[in-house]
Amino acid sequence: MRQGRIVYQGNTKKGNEIVIRYPIPEDLKAMTDYMNALSLEQTFITFQGEQLTLKEEKKYLQGILKKIQKREAVKLFVFHKNQLIGISDIVMQERTSAHVGIFGLTITKDHRGEGIGKLLMELVINEGITHIPQLRIITLGVFANNPIAYGLYKKFGFIKLGKIPGGIKHKNKYIDYISMYKIIK
Ligand SMILES: CC(C)(COP(=O)(O)OP(=O)(O)OC[C@H]1O[C@@H](n2cnc3c(N)ncnc32)[C@H](O)[C@@H]1OP(=O)(O)O)[C@@H](O)C(=O)NCCC(=O)NCCS
Repeated sequence: MRQGRIVYQGNTKKGNEIVIRYPIPEDLKAMTDYMNALSLEQTFITFQGEQLTLKEEKKYLQGILKKIQKREAVKLFVFHKNQLIGISDIVMQERTSAHVGIFGLTITKDHRGEGIGKLLMELVINEGITHIPQLRIITLGVFANNPIAYGLYKKFGFIKLGKIPGGIKHKNKYIDYISMYKIIK
């Protein structure tokens, strides 16, 4: 049973106390608010201002909890003073790609640059390796105008597969979409 399991408790580089754990159904409101704030920020993620409803997010959260239970996903939430400040996950694909997991990572604006992203990425990859038996490859996509994320992924041994020129429309500009992968086993 992974629901609510704590994988880390400690302090960030800035001395902020954090708890990192698997999600529970009661995280619904916090997760929805977190995603909607990121979306409004128009940072380097798919959502660019759209607002998710509690109903949509409930369906998503129920689905991901089921996937975690079936060992087809890992997802970790970072909390600081009971506020959700970071999310990362690996979600397995299906059928001929059932051994391939897609990686995602975000940290809320006020807590970037504290070392949380790096720590969270390490924890999620380790959880993926121990919890998902079929995980052999992790893939991810990154906007070419996001050098912080790209540099972080390279440090973790991700290899640039290539890019789709203009594959992303971000703030009315066409940006290259970079694909990366890491072989686990
Ligand atoms: C990308 C992101 C997840 C990184 O998380 P973070 O907690 O801010 O990163 P960390 O503090 O752990 O730092 C990771 C590395 O990036 C570097 N870094 C972080 N912020 C930086 C900045 N503003 N300028 C330069 N380097 C920076 C750090 O020095 C560190 O490198 P090091 O290990 O050599 O010291 C976070 O900035 C974020 O959520 N951004 C918006 C959403 C996003 O881009 N998600 C990724 C989509 S692919």
